Amino acid sequence: MPYPPPRPYRGAGTKRRHSGTAAQRHGGTAARRHGGRVRSRALLAFFRVAHYFEDSPAAASRPGSVTLVLPDLHLKLETDRGVFSPDRIDPGTRVLLEGVPAPPSGGDLLDLGCGYGPIALTMASRAPSATVWAVDVNRRSLELCARNAASARLDKVRSVHVDEVPPEVRFAAIWSNPAIRIGKPALHAMLTRWLTRLTPGGAAYLVVQRHLGADSLQRWLVDEGFPATRHASRSAYRILKVESPL
Ligand SMILES: C[S@@+](CC[C@H](N)C(=O)[O-])C[C@H]1O[C@@H](n2cnc3c(N)ncnc32)[C@H](O)[C@@H]1O
Repeated sequence: MPYPPPRPYRGAGTKRRHSGTAAQRHGGTAARRHGGRVRSRALLAFFRVAHYFEDSPAAASRPGSVTLVLPDLHLKLETDRGVFSPDRIDPGTRVLLEGVPAPPSGGDLLDLGCGYGPIALTMASRAPSATVWAVDVNRRSLELCARNAASARLDKVRSVHVDEVPPEVRFAAIWSNPAIRIGKPALHAMLTRWLTRLTPGGAAYLVVQRHLGADSLQRWLVDEGFPATRHASRSAYRILKVESPL
């Protein structure tokens, strides 16, 4: 378990402005200012962030549900503790799903870091003939995503661990709300691993918060030879379009 959790992606040259552990930074100041209740909330938020990308979350199960409402889709999704954003559809995910162009109608598509599946299920619903690979490292997320796809009768969703995608599969599109909080080296390795598997002419759409380094991530992608442009900018988010380098 990463403890304290790695820093979010903020781009090259960003200086750490705080000292102490993440727990102290998230909890300590608030506690001094507002007392114990706020500190408890801050600590809860810290542990939620620290655990959601674990292989097997330590957090005890507490099933819940959220509703995904889009102009073309209305789905109730099962969630749980120990997965990303269990209490609501993440605003960045919503920005992506409302701003991304229709996926290719067939072939293999990828949701990189599927969580409980809002992106994968939307892809599958918009491209019913395609096979949608929903990958994650978090087993609880993968189980939820598989159950949510089954409930929605989206039987072309393959909810599998990142290491279980057959190596020959190439993706006509990748959509992702990538796990920025795993830290820059891991994020770069993850993106390199999957973006190099785009088919020629394929494209990835990544939603990233501006204050978590969307613009520097775009620069890094370009420097690494991935043609990356800003597809859209809404609220605090950017949607980056990354074309196949081939
Ligand atoms: C920001 S969350 C997005 C989850 C979901 N797509 C959504 O929109 O609600 C990022 C997800 O990436 C997963 N993740 C972390 N490291 C990963 C890796 N190396 N490869 C694939 N997924 C990873 C996390 O477990 C988490 O579920």
